[in-house]
Amino acid sequence: MILAPSILSADFGRLADELASAERGGAGLIHVDVMDGHFVPNLTLGPPVVAALRRHTRLPLDVHLMIEHADRWLDAFVDAGADWISVHVEAVPHLQRAIAHIKARGARAGVALNPATALGTLEEILPELDYVLVMSVNPGFGGQKFLPGCLDKVRRLAAQVRARTLATQIEVDGGVDASNARALVEAGAEVLVAGSAVFGRGDAEQAARRLLEAVA
Ligand code: DX5
Ligand code: ZN
Repeated sequence: MILAPSILSADFGRLADELASAERGGAGLIHVDVMDGHFVPNLTLGPPVVAALRRHTRLPLDVHLMIEHADRWLDAFVDAGADWISVHVEAVPHLQRAIAHIKARGARAGVALNPATALGTLEEILPELDYVLVMSVNPGFGGQKFLPGCLDKVRRLAAQVRARTLATQIEVDGGVDASNARALVEAGAEVLVAGSAVFGRGDAEQAARRLLEAVA
């Protein structure tokens, strides 16, 4: 299991220190939430912040684009140092082109699904995806409550990936903490995003370690 702390809940004035704490605690990936105030009702950050993060960590950067017209921004995020990029199926009409573009630029490509979006929307594109990001809250804010229905969604997606003998990884994002992490991994999640469960609790290193222990 890869732990991907989301910097959305970190102290934005001390991002380099927060990255270092998460890394010491065993984080394997840094999750970066990009929001545009249109696709989701919140605004966060863009390529310059990703470029700054890139200079302060060796961990791969997992950029989650919660934006309209994501296809117009792919190059800017790859140039800034994104290693993984996910776009939302609900926001990108020409999904195949966007995924092919991310891969052609050398990044890992994923598709994110809102809680109410059916797995069936991925039927055609699944073999082309490096990962699927299953949202377990409605995107827009950190610190929301985990929607328990997503556990079965992860289980069904994992079954499809196995049945089609694909290498697609499953990432889960939203409300992940020590109480549900183990069940998610048992259901088939391989990457767990955690914002408020890692940052905003004082010691990010310890919080990350505790989450990893909950799964071990
Ligand atoms: C929500 C974001 C999440 C968020 C998770 O829209 O996509 O990545 O940072 O935060 P927690 O773990 O606090 O739910
Ligand atoms: Zn996210």
